[in-house]
Amino acid sequence: MYKIIQWSTGNIGRQTLAAIIDHPDLEVAGVYAFGSDKVGLDAGELCHRPRVGIEATGDVDALVEMEADCVCLTPVFYDEDILVRLLRSGKNVVASGGFIHPEGVQSEEFMERIEAACKEGDSSIFGSGVNPGFINAISILLTHACRQIESVTWDEFSYAGLYNSPESWSYMGLGLTPKEREKRGASALPDPDAPNSLDFSVFSEAVKLTADALGFEVDEYRYGEEIAVATKPIEVAWTTYETGTVAGLRHWVTGYVGDKPVLTGRVNWYMGLDLEPNWIPERSTREYLGRIAIEGEPSIHCDFGIGRGRLHDPQLVENAIDPALVATAMPVVNAIPAVCEAKPGIRTYLDLPMMAAKHLVKI
Ligand SMILES: NC(=O)c1ccc[n+]([C@@H]2O[C@H](COP(=O)([O-])OP(=O)(O)OC[C@H]3O[C@@H](n4cnc5c(N)ncnc54)[C@H](OP(=O)(O)O)[C@@H]3O)[C@@H](O)[C@H]2O)c1
Repeated sequence: MYKIIQWSTGNIGRQTLAAIIDHPDLEVAGVYAFGSDKVGLDAGELCHRPRVGIEATGDVDALVEMEADCVCLTPVFYDEDILVRLLRSGKNVVASGGFIHPEGVQSEEFMERIEAACKEGDSSIFGSGVNPGFINAISILLTHACRQIESVTWDEFSYAGLYNSPESWSYMGLGLTPKEREKRGASALPDPDAPNSLDFSVFSEAVKLTADALGFEVDEYRYGEEIAVATKPIEVAWTTYETGTVAGLRHWVTGYVGDKPVLTGRVNWYMGLDLEPNWIPERSTREYLGRIAIEGEPSIHCDFGIGRGRLHDPQLVENAIDPALVATAMPVVNAIPAVCEAKPGIRTYLDLPMMAAKHLVKI
């Protein structure tokens, strides 16, 4: 049994917490809550599960000192010093933001600090999610069947109208007219002053990971984005995107070798279907769509949909919201045993064993 501290209880954190409570090999040891309204609430209560007798706390020192095998780190912003203390204290960390590759968007100095903390605590850290994370593991695995590769492209098409993170969307300039957005300089593109977890450049870590898997160096990362405007008012849980305002966004990072674009990761987010231009594939109107295209010998094209299955329980509010949130949380939770057994340091899909939903088959 692995003892886990759940760190924050937002969109993803509530999913990971529920998964930890449900998991036969995992046990909740503690819960950190940033929001004071959640402090004192039972872990089960926070994620629509029966009470488990562990209350959320804002007491960082107590959690750092607590005995636990792993921290499930899912806040929108994390404190670097606290992360270092957790790793030094011997706790492994699985994260839903960053840590896809050690040469990430963080400074070299920070990554060295993390490596040193891991060494000191004999701990490891791993980052995943649905994208970046899971989609990259699949893309890399698909290349296994190729003789030659010209390019690899992965796309996510995702209805964002259920992703209740208004700060993230307004940061990226959704809800503004294209002119206002341009004036404000809103962008999802890398910005040295932006908080890391909203910084699109984390997706370049996935390009780096894929390049490592394929054994070549990227010379240059180039970023691009394209907006789409609402052609009718689009209502979502937290606002209405008025006609003529930005309600769709696609952005990408491409890894070049010389002038050849080799690896591209792209996200396509939309608040509704009434968009201009409308680049939404029909399948993604029904479910989250992951699309991977490998051009090579042979070429391999793969679409996967993440949607509601037969085990879907509408009584469980978090399931009723968005299956893609579950698929963001589970690669993080399902990595816990492997990360706890891994050698110290920043670990990636390239040095952990193949992982699965172990012990989660419902008979
Ligand atoms: N790789 C992927 O596929 C993927 C997909 C989606 C999201 N993500 C990442 O997962 C992370 C969480 O996303 P989310 O949608 O769950 O975010 P969220 O719901 O907007 O926020 C998560 C939690 O962050 C905590 N928080 C808010 N402000 C904070 C602050 N100033 N300092 C410290 N903590 C603060 C709050 O925790 P309390 O509950 O403790 O109050 C909040 O509930 C983000 O880094 C996001 O980029 C990754």
